[in-house]
Amino acid sequence: MSSLFTRFKRLVGIDIRSDKYTYAKDPDFGYTATSRIPEKWVKTTCGYCSVGCGMLLGVRDHKAVAVRGNPDHPVNRGKLCPKGLSEHHILAAPGRAKQPLLRKNGVLTSVSWDEALDTMVERFRDIQKRHGNDSLGVVGTGQLLTEEFYTLGKLVQLGLRTRNHDGNTTLCMASAVSGYKLSFGSDGPPGSYADMESADVILLIGANIADNHPILCHRVDRGPGTKPRRLIVVDPRVTKTAMMADLHLPVKPRSDIALINGIAHILIREGLINYDYIEQHTNGFEEFANFVSAFTPTHVALITGLTETQITETALLYGRAKSAFIGWTMGVNHSTQGAVTVAAINNLALITGNIGRTGAAPFSITGQCNAMGTREAGFTSSLPGYRKFDNPQDREALARIWNIPVDRIPTARGLAYPDIIEAAVQGKIKALWFIATNPAVSFPNYKLLEQALRSVEFLVVQDGFHPTSTSEFAHLVLPAAIWGEKEGTYTNSERRISKANPAVPPPGEARPDFDIFLDIADRLGVKAELYPNWTSPHDAYQEWQRVSAGRMCDYSNFSWQQIDDANGLQWGGESLYRDGIFPTTDGRAILHNVPCDPFKEQPDAEFSFILNTGRTVEHWHTRTKTAEVDLLNNMVPNAWLEMNPLDAANLELKPHDRVTVRSRRGAVADLELRITGIVAPGQVFMPFHFAETNSNIVTLGDFDPISREPNFKQCAVRIERTPMRDRRSPRRK
Ligand code: SF4
Ligand code: MOS
Repeated sequence: MSSLFTRFKRLVGIDIRSDKYTYAKDPDFGYTATSRIPEKWVKTTCGYCSVGCGMLLGVRDHKAVAVRGNPDHPVNRGKLCPKGLSEHHILAAPGRAKQPLLRKNGVLTSVSWDEALDTMVERFRDIQKRHGNDSLGVVGTGQLLTEEFYTLGKLVQLGLRTRNHDGNTTLCMASAVSGYKLSFGSDGPPGSYADMESADVILLIGANIADNHPILCHRVDRGPGTKPRRLIVVDPRVTKTAMMADLHLPVKPRSDIALINGIAHILIREGLINYDYIEQHTNGFEEFANFVSAFTPTHVALITGLTETQITETALLYGRAKSAFIGWTMGVNHSTQGAVTVAAINNLALITGNIGRTGAAPFSITGQCNAMGTREAGFTSSLPGYRKFDNPQDREALARIWNIPVDRIPTARGLAYPDIIEAAVQGKIKALWFIATNPAVSFPNYKLLEQALRSVEFLVVQDGFHPTSTSEFAHLVLPAAIWGEKEGTYTNSERRISKANPAVPPPGEARPDFDIFLDIADRLGVKAELYPNWTSPHDAYQEWQRVSAGRMCDYSNFSWQQIDDANGLQWGGESLYRDGIFPTTDGRAILHNVPCDPFKEQPDAEFSFILNTGRTVEHWHTRTKTAEVDLLNNMVPNAWLEMNPLDAANLELKPHDRVTVRSRRGAVADLELRITGIVAPGQVFMPFHFAETNSNIVTLGDFDPISREPNFKQCAVRIERTPMRDRRSPRRK
């Protein structure tokens, strides 16, 4: 009896015999500790991933005490994943940054906001005066609200006058952006989640939605009563998502291009293509057909490791579908061939006419809650509203709205994120400002990144949490408000703009990023010019509405109130390109011939395994947030390494052994070994979330020449047993 009771206590995580809690019947939850029954529910949007679930954040005594799914939100219809369900815990977490900190005599010391921002502006000015405006690099994030990101863009480009401004989104979906531009002349995911429910065939390539976009799994639900639908999953690992599939294609790493070209080959050979669509809406078909003629099933089987039957079956399923949907994420994007792989995917959709109609789209699933909003607000790969740096009309239109001379707007983009880091190492960039991102864990080839962080004269880290692996290097730490504490909009993968609302005040002296930006503008003397009469993010939103008006990403008809009332509104409607007209010079989409190159660092005798990196559902990116949530962190407190049983037998390794992953760049020790057929022989997998076992000590600093996205997915490693002296002990979070 008593052991049962102890077990129950452990299970629910509270001492039900203590006086600490009293219970009452909560209309929403049944019996709940009274301290957790909210006085009010604030409607908002999840701040983790790009699925963009609507939620209600429960507040009691000015504290966030609960979260539940918004049953009326079209994205999630009341459901939430484990991260969403525990999101309120991040707000009052011990790791929150609460005070501005300035490094004095080597030590981060509490200072006032005035001293912090005065110092920042003075240091940036001094450095720019000595080394030129482009000696400053700024890296923002898909964690910011669109209003904030838009405000930041103006501040960096027009206030600080540097073009070297990029986002952590370059580590994530720059390849999707570039690939869309290659094929269609513009960014903009053409489809919607609803397409997943109406498609006959869903082809997921390098997208483990069960771990990374959990609530999307409901869209492929094929339970009793739902319409029969085929799910095909292309992934080197037998992921949770692969386990849901009708057909799992365990391709060799980076052979997806061969598979895609091989599918095109079969479609053309079998006449399963849409001749009218090709004729009316595309360019380059003849060359393309000629190019893929070499990708015979026999040839493709050799490259991919799949059987000819698997390849043919996939092509026939896709080609015979009335509507077919292709979704992808990091398996495609995290590659030196990411942008062109996206173009290859678009080829398939174009030759079959699987675009611009319900159920049919080539659809990039984004990562962060507002990666899309930052893509649209631009300042990195494009000017705001998907405008182009090299287009004079675009620059003039912006200058008119902003009421500034057109020559203030750069004619070409500055450095992309990896090139900002490279320039810092080379001493060309002397000051860095990171906002809500943690490159010391997320950036590839850690040693080079560390060199960049150490070599700049002034490093500012603005974040909701401190210390992070990056803020420990900072000269100045600016404590920021986070999700739940500030107001604005997020735009999700399907172009749905949702409202994020504040429910509680930020801790200590932390301030909304928007307020910090305006305060810096004030100190630079550009506030009146750039942000006339602005006091709240709503002012930024109204200007953004004017800037986006008439553009593809047109927000002008959606007020904050309308967005909130409607539980999100999609710009562009459910599908883009319904008329088959594309924003290219002649209105036609472009078919690209995409070669399948072998990835750069092939395994050899010394480093015989291919390392793949990825995520797990319990954690978010570099764990600045999820390590603070015991519920999540206790489930997955440490990283692990997956290895196939055949390889483990060869190396005489057992389950739970401690192993070290070593590449030409460095080694990560003390990973728990999981021996599993989830990975194929010759491949190993580790999650990238953990600072303590940072996969980026091992990964390759190699980037897509078009998108500049890193090749996180394939590098050559060897696996050794970790010697006792390299073990971390005791385990910490
Ligand atoms: Fe939040 Fe994404 Fe989970 Fe939805 S699926 S609750 S948006 S983390
Ligand atoms: Mo991404 S994590 O969609 O920038």
